[in-house]
Formats: sequence, structure tokens, C-alpha cells
Amino acid sequence: MDAVELLLTRSSMPRLIAPGPDDEALKLMQRAALRVPDHMDLTPYQFIILQGDDLVEFGQVFEKAAVEERLPDNVANRAAQLPVRAPTVMVVATRYTDHEKVPRWEQLCSAATAAFAVEQMAFALGYGAIWRTGPFAEMLQVKKALNIEAENDVLGFLYLGTPAVPTPIKPEKDREIFRRYKKA
Ligand SMILES: Cc1cc2nc3c(=O)[nH]c(=O)nc-3n(C[C@H](O)[C@H](O)[C@H](O)COP(=O)(O)O)c2cc1C
Repeated sequence: MDAVELLLTRSSMPRLIAPGPDDEALKLMQRAALRVPDHMDLTPYQFIILQGDDLVEFGQVFEKAAVEERLPDNVANRAAQLPVRAPTVMVVATRYTDHEKVPRWEQLCSAATAAFAVEQMAFALGYGAIWRTGPFAEMLQVKKALNIEAENDVLGFLYLGTPAVPTPIKPEKDREIFRRYKKA
């Protein structure tokens, strides 16, 4: 797949089955994540990979957090099942550095582009991926279970695996978001 095709067709895939990305694919995803714009080379992001039994354990973390935070029954009841929807889940989080030239919002932007680079590499390699968040991304209990410092932000969970059916490619959005500068 060439770069233009990747950029114009990448689509998320929620229906994911085994196998998840192998070590070689994970290495390529890491290299892609390290290619993103990064002011002052701070690498302000971290990825935690969960596979196999990790996902069951992580589901229990969600379940416990749901009870502690008194989430509605319909959320709490399915909490344990959320991470096991894919063979691999990557938690994407910031790793902020205090820097006089690079405020945290810039570092957050960099982290988001790194997450997207992983999604793009997954798609280019024929894997399926979807970026999800939900209430658990913002919970301190979840950060603690992953050894993510409270001051950092969890940007989401990248669900990765083999597409259960060929990834449906969404049609292009027919909208104008570019406009020429005109003095106000
Ligand atoms: C920060 C962020 C959080 C997201 N959270 C969710 C989510 O919790 N659940 C969900 O179904 N999609 C979520 N999405 C959207 C999907 O990842 C995906 O982009 C969307 O389904 C559209 O599909 P596409 O990527 O093929 O255009 C999120 C996207 C971003 C950027």
C-alpha cells in the first residue's frame, strides 16, 4: 500500500480477532510512533501493550473501578468484557516533561499523533485497529494499575487485531475544511 492510499483510505475496524500484531509488527508500530512531530524531542508519550491474560486482568481493573465509581449497571456489567474484544490492546498515555518551550498541550498533540501513527501502521500491515476511550480512560485506578503517573493523561485504548471480515473502507467525507486566508 502506498502512502497516499493509506492516508485516503485508512478506516477503523471494531471487529477484531486473533492473531494480534506479532513482535515484528509491534516494532514497526513503535518506529512509526517515534516518527511523529515532537517539539524538542521529548517523546511525550508511552504505550502499554496488553495481550492474552493481561486483557482478562485489565478487565477486572475496569470492573472494580466501575463499582468504586458507581457507574451505571449497564456500564459496570460489561466492564470486564471490554478489553477482551481484541487480541491486543495498547494503552496510549502522555509522558509529560516540564519544559519552558513546550507546554503540555503541545506534548498532548504529539502523543495523539503517535497514537494515530500506530493506527496507520496497523492498517498498512493489514491489521485492524480502533481507538476507544470511555470513562475508564480518565480513572485514577486505571492509571495506577498501569503504572501511569496521575499527572499524565490516558488518551485512549488502541484495540488491535486481525479484521474479522475485510475492513470496510468508509467513503470519503465530502466537506470543505480548507479555506483561503482572507483578512478579517
Ligand atoms: C480520542 C478518540 C477517542 C475515541 N473514542 C471512541 C470510543 O470510545 N468508542 C468508539 O466507538 N469510537 C471512538 N473513537 C472513534 C473511533 O476510533 C473511530 O475513529 C470512529 O469509529 C470512526 O472511524 P474511522 O476511524 O474509520 O473514521 C475515538 C476517536 C478518538 C480520536
